[in-house]
Formats: sequence, C-alpha cells, structure tokens
Amino acid sequence: MTTNDPVTVLENIIEQAQTLSADDRRRLLVTAQKLVTTLEPPEEAAFRQIFQSHTFSFAIRLGAELGFFRVLVKRDGVPISSVELATECKIEELLLVRVMRVLTGLGYAAESGEREYVATPLSRAMVLPHLEAFMIHSQENSARVVNRLPEYFQRYGYKCPTDGANGAYQFALGTSLSFFDSIHSDPVRAERFNVSMTGNKNQRRFWFEWFPVDDHLLKPFHGSSPTPESVFLVDMGGGKGHHLEALLTKFPAVGGHLILQDLPRTISSIRETLDSRIQPAVHDIFSPQPVAGALVYYTHFVLHDFPDDKCQTMLRHVAAAMRPGYSRLLLNEVVIPERDCPLYFACSDITMMAVLAGMQRSRRHWVELVESAGLAVVKVWESPDFGDMEGVIEAMVAN
Ligand SMILES: C[S@@+](CC[C@H](N)C(=O)[O-])C[C@H]1O[C@@H](n2cnc3c(N)ncnc32)[C@H](O)[C@@H]1O
Repeated sequence: MTTNDPVTVLENIIEQAQTLSADDRRRLLVTAQKLVTTLEPPEEAAFRQIFQSHTFSFAIRLGAELGFFRVLVKRDGVPISSVELATECKIEELLLVRVMRVLTGLGYAAESGEREYVATPLSRAMVLPHLEAFMIHSQENSARVVNRLPEYFQRYGYKCPTDGANGAYQFALGTSLSFFDSIHSDPVRAERFNVSMTGNKNQRRFWFEWFPVDDHLLKPFHGSSPTPESVFLVDMGGGKGHHLEALLTKFPAVGGHLILQDLPRTISSIRETLDSRIQPAVHDIFSPQPVAGALVYYTHFVLHDFPDDKCQTMLRHVAAAMRPGYSRLLLNEVVIPERDCPLYFACSDITMMAVLAGMQRSRRHWVELVESAGLAVVKVWESPDFGDMEGVIEAMVAN
C-alpha cells in the first residue's frame, strides 16, 4: 500500500535504514539533515542551536564520567529506575533526571517509563573504551578552549593562530605548555588521549583497503632485493601502533621492518602484545628522521595537529631521509573540499586551530605545503567512500 502522508513515508524509510549500505546511509543522512534545516523555522533553529550546543557535551561527559552508559548497557535491556541509576552512579536523583532528559533527547538512552531508562545503540557506542576516553578528553580540553576563542580573538586580533606553544590553548587553560606537552605531563590524560586515538578511524576504512598496496608498494619493495634490515614503512606519530597492526592483518607477508615512532609517553604506554614485527621507537618528528631509505614514510592524522611552518620542518627532515627515486611519503590525512565542507570536518578544523594552531587542509593546500618542503607530489589519492574526506598525499623527493 502506498501513502502520501509524509510522516508515514519517513517512518518507512527509518524502518529500511538498517538494511542500507554504508554509502547509501551517508547519502541519506545528508538529505535528512537538509530536511531538518528546511522544516525548522530559522529563528527557532537559531535559538535552539544557541541554547543546546554547550549543553550537549556537558551531559554526555557526565554520562561517560559517572558511568550512566555502562550501567544501562550492563542491564542488557532490563529497565532501570532513576533511583537505582542514581545510586549506582553516585549522583543526586534529581540531577540525574535532569541530565537524562538531555541524554534521552539525544538518543544516548531511552525512556521505558516515567523516570525509567534502557540502553540504546548510542549508549552501547559510549561504552567503547575509545569513545568514553574521547568524550572526557574532548570536553576537558577542546570544549574549554573553543569556548574561550571569542575572548582570545578579541585580545589578540582576528587571525588564525600559528604558534601551538603560544596560542588559544595556553590562553584558555592558563598554561605555558603546548597541548602535547600538557597532556603528556599527566599519565592519566596522556593515556586517555592515546586510547581515544585508537578509534579515530571511526567507521572509515583503512587507507590500505582502497590504496593499491600490492602494485604500488609491495612489488617495488620485494623487487628491490630487501635485506633483513630493510624498512618497509615508518609510521610517524603512529600512536599505539593500531594502524600498523591492522596493516599486518591485511598484508601478513609484508616482509621488512615496520617502525612505529611517537613521543616517549606514548611509546612507553604500548602493550607488550604489540606484533613483534613492529619496532616501537621514540622520535620527535621535528628532529632529523633517524631511519634512512625506508620505502614508505607514513602519517595518519598527524600533520593536521600543526601549523604550516612546523609541517615544513617535519617534511624537510623526512625528505632528507628518503632515498630519491625509491622512498615514498604517504600522508594519510583529511582532505577537505574547497566548498561544501561537511560540518563535522569544519568543526574538527576549528578544534585543531584552538588546541594546536593546527588545521584541516584542502587538496590544493596539501600540494603547496608538501612541495614547499622540496618534495614532488605524485598523486593525491582520495577514499572512494562517500563523505570520508580521507586521502593519501603521495610524494617523492623532487628531482
Ligand atoms: C592525532 S594523534 C594520531 C595518532 C595515530 N597516527 C592515529 O591516527 O591513531 C597524533 C599523534 O602524534 C603524536 N605526536 C605529537 N607530536 C609529536 C612529535 N613532535 N613527534 C612525534 N609524534 C608526535 C602524538 O603523540 C599522537 O600519537
């Protein structure tokens, strides 16, 4: 039976949504967001957004920090009353009820009765260790700094901050430390950040699932008569090594060494269970690259943390270590479009600016930046998945 009732049409789409492919879901999301913008009278939309935006992150953080989501998920579909939930999470019942109104409104839990709750898919997402860590990290760092950006710009002028050691982060949090120095001065905050980064791919596929690894990397590597010392890939700022482990799972016969470089606090937190083919090493990307002549020098979501001049320094160090005609730099970073930038990436750009004087870059910006460091861009590969905005900027030493 067909119907013209718009609500019924939408409800039918909601029913089918679970069966759609990831690409179709993302396309539909863009259209659904347009629908919301079209339906809501502009003054209502503006008032609502102004009032809500600062409240959401507070409520989700409280839920993560006090364990609301864990308790709900542990109940496995059995409803819990506000009194029980408040007792388990050590919070006054009335305060819990007020915060839960926001969380249920956002879908982080559902009301199964009056002052009675059950878990939802979003509650289950929030008990994933990387998301729980990311929520607390973001609220404690990014949200506080972004909140004070208006005052920062009033005082220092309306221009992009370009010094990560003396910018909005230091102004807002009253510290003289850079973001990484600050979180690495506290093992709890450092671990929270590192754990949150293990999930930063979200639902996106890894680069090696759409990049021609066999033809482009493995054939030249194995054809170059590698010795036992030959290095296949150096992952710079590679965090806990999760990307290299995933690469080895997909390509177990890589051969050659895989080197994981990061700051001391991150390297020292790496589990003993890390694949033995991965060699962790402390290295500061702003000092000369100690591994010379590797086939691949790789980053994932690292250079967006830094302003252009710092990136140039890092790129020059890598260029000096690369073997001309053989080594490749693969920057697996966000590539934002020049127009119609998805809101998520526009917001992440502002966060990078606030916290690190970093930025998300467009294809044109990446090419100019890489070439300004004496490298030649071979190709900018872009993820074929709709809305991913992830790319691999491939470069070699310029002739
Ligand atoms: C946004 S995280 C990305 C981590 C990992 N590549 C990933 O995608 O999950 C940035 C990483 O760069 C590291 N980092 C920051 N400054 C660095 C430096 N000067 N030298 C080496 N690594 C650095 C951080 O410790 C962190 O692991």
